[in-house]
Amino acid sequence: MIPNVDPDSIVYLNGEYLRLGDARISVLDRGFIFGDGIYEVVPAYGRKPFRMDGHLARLERSLASIKINVGWQRGDWEKLVVGMLDRVPFETSMAYLQVTRGVAKRDHAFPAQATPTVFCMVSAFERPGAALREQGIAVISVPDLRWLHCEIKSVSLLGNVLAKQQAVDAGVDEVVQFRDGYLSEGASCNVWVVKNGTLLAPLRNNLILEGIRYRLLEELAQAAGIRFESRRISQQEVEQADELMLTSATKEVLPVVKYNGKPVGAGRPGPVYAKLRAGYDQAVASL
Ligand code: PDD
Repeated sequence: MIPNVDPDSIVYLNGEYLRLGDARISVLDRGFIFGDGIYEVVPAYGRKPFRMDGHLARLERSLASIKINVGWQRGDWEKLVVGMLDRVPFETSMAYLQVTRGVAKRDHAFPAQATPTVFCMVSAFERPGAALREQGIAVISVPDLRWLHCEIKSVSLLGNVLAKQQAVDAGVDEVVQFRDGYLSEGASCNVWVVKNGTLLAPLRNNLILEGIRYRLLEELAQAAGIRFESRRISQQEVEQADELMLTSATKEVLPVVKYNGKPVGAGRPGPVYAKLRAGYDQAVASL
């Protein structure tokens, strides 16, 4: 028994729908041996996937960038996600997709012949509640010690795992990572800064995973008449921010009210957050 996991829930593995408790992969799967694979996390509200096109386009980019060819078209991935959402009892959920290079004799080089492993599971998703949305969360800053291809949604997440544990050990909710003195992102989310009414986000490059909510927040800012700039953001600018926010599929958009033990701005969620939050809720409601 695995705590908090229902062994009867249905998962997809390599063409079959199985009970989670019956799903098996080889110990020689390169995902297990090398972390040689990629993943996606797609939220669904009222059983409808949210921003699925963006998620599947990123999945295809991740696969192409590590040269895994599943041979699937966009429609095949859509069918998998929608088919899984139909098989679970949850109204609000997270679809998790993972693809690895497959099973082969252990050798770092790509195997000449291996069939990619394709896995999908769907878990219930409890949206961040009023406490988090209205009172905000606390973060600490840490150095970004990850590799230089953070734009790939790789399952090799050791750097992110170790970063997140620093937050847990410090009794806060997340970390904000810095590389060479400039903001990158959280352990599993993007980070946003507000200064003098302008919404700032780090550049979309190899140093961050461009969240599906990155584009969304940009759109919401535009609709709300909030100036938006994508550029390098120094550690000092983060320390002196009027507002800080985090976004991800699971966090949606959350305000940060404490940074390294000090209040952010007025120490409570700010007006730019309030507008973006309202826009986010509206986007979900109009799915
Ligand atoms: N993480 N940056 C990192 C490192 C992430 O892991 C994530 C998402 C994001 C935000 O991406 P999006 O808006 O598409 O969720 C940014 C997912 C939720 C996870 O690993 O569970």
